[in-house]
Amino acid sequence: MNKKVIFFEVQGGNDKGPDGYRKDTMPMVHALQQRGQDAEVIFYDMTKQQEIFDYVKENAIAYVSRINPGNLKDESAYFSMLRQLCKEGIIGMPHPDAMIGYGAKDALVKLADTSLVPSDTYAYYTIEEFKNNFPKSLANGIRVLKQNRGSTGEGIWRVQLVDELEPENTEVPLNATIKCTEAKDNHVEYFELAAFMDFCEQYIVGDNGMLVDMQFLPRIKEGEIRLFMLHDKPVNVVHKKPVESEDSFSATLFSGANYRYDKPEDWKNLVDFFLSKLPVVMDRLGGYDLPLIWTADFILDTDEAGNDRYVLGEMNCSCVGFTSELELAQDIADEIIFKIKEHTLQSI
Ligand SMILES: Nc1ncnc2c1ncn2[C@@H]1O[C@H](COP(=O)(O)OP(=O)(O)OP(=O)(O)O)[C@@H](O)[C@H]1O
Ligand SMILES: [Mg+2]
Repeated sequence: MNKKVIFFEVQGGNDKGPDGYRKDTMPMVHALQQRGQDAEVIFYDMTKQQEIFDYVKENAIAYVSRINPGNLKDESAYFSMLRQLCKEGIIGMPHPDAMIGYGAKDALVKLADTSLVPSDTYAYYTIEEFKNNFPKSLANGIRVLKQNRGSTGEGIWRVQLVDELEPENTEVPLNATIKCTEAKDNHVEYFELAAFMDFCEQYIVGDNGMLVDMQFLPRIKEGEIRLFMLHDKPVNVVHKKPVESEDSFSATLFSGANYRYDKPEDWKNLVDFFLSKLPVVMDRLGGYDLPLIWTADFILDTDEAGNDRYVLGEMNCSCVGFTSELELAQDIADEIIFKIKEHTLQSI
């Protein structure tokens, strides 16, 4: 029997086309079918979890997850179903723990001992760790605090001191005034450090709460470079340039950043650098296979010798879309079939 490739989606949401599916899902289904590989879309619904599990276990060779788990009522139920399916031998694209690993902001911290990420990048999982360490890291220069939940720049704050610190201070005093700019819309607010840290408690409490603290990279003004990856191949590049204004640093779409679509060949240095780092990325993020479709965002920095260096700012792998480049569906179908063949050979 020709087992199916199952695409998981959820019903509703504003990313769906007239057929009720994400606009880039059916192109993949059709491309697989044209290649003789059966494929089907299933809407995940927690109340039907057992039924869905049984059906997929019986009928699928692989699944492709196209759901933003953060939007589910209970993402852990979805993850545990996927985990169980992978245990049953279904090929996970991606494995749920790879999804969690690549998608969470603390992926940066797991890579802080590599040349992809500055070594002074921290993650805070408790309010106490945050309040103890942040005044120290801020004493070293402008920082960016990133909440784990949410996207499009919400809860991503650039934090800088208004008055210079006394040179002997290794910690910013709690009553120092700080200027905070949120990446959502580049708006500025002034706080006392203590009050701002109280405000940030919301980002740490609750499921998957955490804050990542990394140095601010001023060359963000030149743009953020997104590599769109198909497994281990960069297939597209988006250059995202923040709006030109004194306080702007956000490359998110809704902040007004300007997007330009480039080819991987136009960014050869970055591409070669990142490809050389893929083994260490996989290793640090749990040793899972790379996700099927995912993105990695980079910001330029300058090293001690005055040369350009690229810093990884974020990765996404849960619900990456490609509606503006639908022809990619053909390459994705080839990659899925390649993965299935590879898997079948391994299990003989
Ligand atoms: N270390 C940094 N230095 C300079 N700018 C940064 C830094 N980190 C993030 N930014 C800016 O803030 C923006 C939002 O940050 P990030 O992409 O990490 O968060 P996000 O909310 O998950 O956004 P997305 O919608 O891309 O998922 C980036 O696009 C970039 O412009
Ligand atoms: Mg981003």
